[in-house]
Amino acid sequence: MKAQFHSHFLLPPDKIYMCGHSLGPLSKSASHQLHEGCNEWERLLVSGWNEADWFHLPKHLGEKIAPLIGALPHEVIVTDNTTTNLLKVLLAGLRLCRGRSVILAEKDNFPADLYMAQTAASFEKFTVQAVAGEDIYHAMNDKVGILLITHVNYRTSYQHDIVAITAKAKALGIIVIWDFSHSIGILPLNCQRFDIDFAVGCTYKYLNGGPGSPSFLYVNEKYHETLRSPLAGWMGHIAPFAFSSVYEPAKNVTSFLTGTPGILSMKALQGALEIFKHVDLSVLREESKALTTLLIEKCAQELPELDCVSPLSAKERGGHVAFLHPHAFAISRAMIEEGIIIDYREPNLLRFGFSPLYIDSQDIRKCVASLKNILHSNLYKKDCFSQRKEVT
Ligand SMILES: Cc1ncc(COP(=O)(O)O)c(C=O)c1O
Repeated sequence: MKAQFHSHFLLPPDKIYMCGHSLGPLSKSASHQLHEGCNEWERLLVSGWNEADWFHLPKHLGEKIAPLIGALPHEVIVTDNTTTNLLKVLLAGLRLCRGRSVILAEKDNFPADLYMAQTAASFEKFTVQAVAGEDIYHAMNDKVGILLITHVNYRTSYQHDIVAITAKAKALGIIVIWDFSHSIGILPLNCQRFDIDFAVGCTYKYLNGGPGSPSFLYVNEKYHETLRSPLAGWMGHIAPFAFSSVYEPAKNVTSFLTGTPGILSMKALQGALEIFKHVDLSVLREESKALTTLLIEKCAQELPELDCVSPLSAKERGGHVAFLHPHAFAISRAMIEEGIIIDYREPNLLRFGFSPLYIDSQDIRKCVASLKNILHSNLYKKDCFSQRKEVT
C-alpha cells in the first residue's frame, strides 16, 4: 500500500514515522482543505457558515466516518473531543439502564475513559467496577448497566473480541460503549452488524486528522427517536438559530452537538478523510498484521532483551506493537535522534505504531537495525537521551 499512498503524505524524507497510533501525519489533502478553510474565512467571513456550509460540517464528516465503522450515515456526528464524547454517551447510556448500579470498565484503559466513567457514575449514583481487560467478559452480570470498553488497548495493543463481548452484553441487557480510538482507520469495524449501542473515538491517530482534531460519536439509530444528549448544547437544539430560551433537542445524533464547531480543525479532518475513500480496510488490516508480525519476529530473533507486551497472535493485536525495556525512555529518544520516530509510555514501554499507508517492510527492517545499534552500542546511555519534557 505504501507505493500507492505514501506520496499522499507530507512526511519528512529522511525520517521513518512510527507514531501514527498517537498523531497521524499531515496529508496533502488535509493541508489543502485547511488552506481552503482559511480562504473561505478570508473571502466569506461570517457568511461562511452558509456559503461554505460550515454549519453542516459536523454532520458531513460523520457521514464520511460512518463507513469506516460500519454505521449508517446519520448515526455518526463529529464533535468535541473523545473525553467529552465519552461523558455524553455514558450519561445518555445511564438513562437507558435504570434499576442497575454498575459501570463496568477496564482497569488498564486510557485514563480519560476511567475518569469519565467515574464522573458519570458520581452524577447518577452508580459505582465503577474496574477490572483487568481479560476479566471483562466474566465480570458482566445483571447489576451492570453499562460496559465501557476500548477495542484496542493503548499500551499493549491487545484487541478485545468485539463479537463475543457485545453478544454477551446484549444477552444480559447491558449497554455497550466501544472506544475505537486505537482501531478506527487501521482495521475494519462494524457497528451495524453487531448492533453496537454507542461508540466514540479519536480522529487524529490513524485517520490523520491533525493535532486535536475533533472526535466522532456514534449512536445506534434505534435510540434516535427517544434518546437525547444529556448536555443540552445550543448546537444540539432542533433550531439553534431560533435562539429559544427553551431547549428542544434535535431528533437524531445531532442532539449530541454542544457548541460552535472548530471549523479549521474539521477542514483538516475533511481533507484527511479523502484518502480513506480509496482505502480497502480489509487489505489495510492484512498488511498491518504482516508488518506488526515482522517487527515482533525480527525483535524476537535479534533483540531478545526487548520484552514484547503485545499479543503474539496477529488477530488479537491492533496497529501498534509495544516492548518493555528498563531504559525505554532513553531508547525512544535515541531512536528519534536517528530519524525513527516512535514513542514512550509509562512504565518503560516503547511503542511502534504505523499505518501501511506510509510504512512498509523495508522501514521495519531499518527500524530494527537502528534499534539494534542503539542497544548494542549503548548509545542510549548518553545523558542527552534521559532529559524529559512535559509531553512524552
Ligand atoms: C483510548 C482513548 N480514549 C480517549 C482518549 C482521549 O482523547 P482526547 O484527549 O482527544 O479527548 C484517548 C487519547 O489518546 C485514547 O487513546
